[in-house]
Amino acid sequence: APSDPDLVDRARAARAALGERAFVLGHHYQRDEVIDFADVTGDSFKLAREAAARPEAEYILFCGVHFMAESADILTSDRQQVVLPDLAAGCSMADMAAIGQVEEAWAVLQDVGIADATIPVTYMNSSAAIKAFTGRHGGTVCTSSNAEVALRWAFEQVGGVDGTGKVLFLPDQHLGRNTAVLELGMSLDECVVFDPRKPNGGLTDQELRDARMILWRGHCSVHGRFSAQNVTDIRAAVPDVTVMVHPECRHEVVTSADLVGSTEYIIKQLDAAEPGSSWAIGTELNLVRRLAKAHPDKHVHYLDSTVCFCSTMNRIDLPHLVWAMESLVEGRVVNRIVVDDDDAHWARVALDQMLALPG
Ligand code: 13P
Ligand code: SF4
Repeated sequence: APSDPDLVDRARAARAALGERAFVLGHHYQRDEVIDFADVTGDSFKLAREAAARPEAEYILFCGVHFMAESADILTSDRQQVVLPDLAAGCSMADMAAIGQVEEAWAVLQDVGIADATIPVTYMNSSAAIKAFTGRHGGTVCTSSNAEVALRWAFEQVGGVDGTGKVLFLPDQHLGRNTAVLELGMSLDECVVFDPRKPNGGLTDQELRDARMILWRGHCSVHGRFSAQNVTDIRAAVPDVTVMVHPECRHEVVTSADLVGSTEYIIKQLDAAEPGSSWAIGTELNLVRRLAKAHPDKHVHYLDSTVCFCSTMNRIDLPHLVWAMESLVEGRVVNRIVVDDDDAHWARVALDQMLALPG
């Protein structure tokens, strides 16, 4: 539905009043009404870099989810304040790895005698505490656009991809498995899933010793719903369709698709596509709808019409954005995201490691 015109006017007025004191970041999964007010849009990697590159902005308004706002707070100076317009904008995947569970899992690896040969890699979609854990243990953060480089770097730290060292990959088992198997050439047998709800992660000591990729049992509730059947169905329904999916999708979905990549990658492929070409896209619906609108000369389909929006990304709407901006205009900082100093220090080590990766 079109936005309330009064609200749009109020948003414009508040944005103008804040001027350069504020910088508005918008993730690709945000609603159109929010994207209209974003100074820059991007995937989580680009937004982290953009936040770090705006030292002049007093306020960073983060239109995305909680872990992204935490990362922005970590990467900006103490003088800058990061605001998340709705504090309920979390991420179900990030919530699947609690710091206590990860500490316990590490203790299991120590008991089995493999912790020294293991390096943690955490997906950006994790709490600051998990990033800090990763930094303390010499690992790196990664995003869907640099997971391959991050994994190669991590394995180099423990003896190389062809050696015997291991990666503990948090919290998205699918991104970890897809990257290890499809980009690094590992076998599915070398990947095991550590289930934090089970003793020893549900694995035998021998299974842990033999594994190269210890995948946390986490997933994205949106991307986890696409199936290989969806790919079969769309190929039958749409001739010459190119199927493009996000690496948070299950392994069988990614292997049956034609292209796989981050939101930024998906956007670039569509920009470069031939007029008249047909595409089926497996990622969040706000982005796919926007792509369909932006490319009327191409046929853009949704991979599964029953998959819905990311409900937490959608928590950020125009009323919340207006409220946050008007509060700032009045000198009240609402919904500020602050990471405590110790976690911020170690999470920054892991984030800086990611930013220093080649490419
Ligand atoms: P990217 O924007 O990094 O592709 O991540 C997708 C996502 O699920 C963010 O929550
Ligand atoms: Fe989290 Fe999935 Fe939503 Fe991204 S799309 S914020 S991974 S729940």
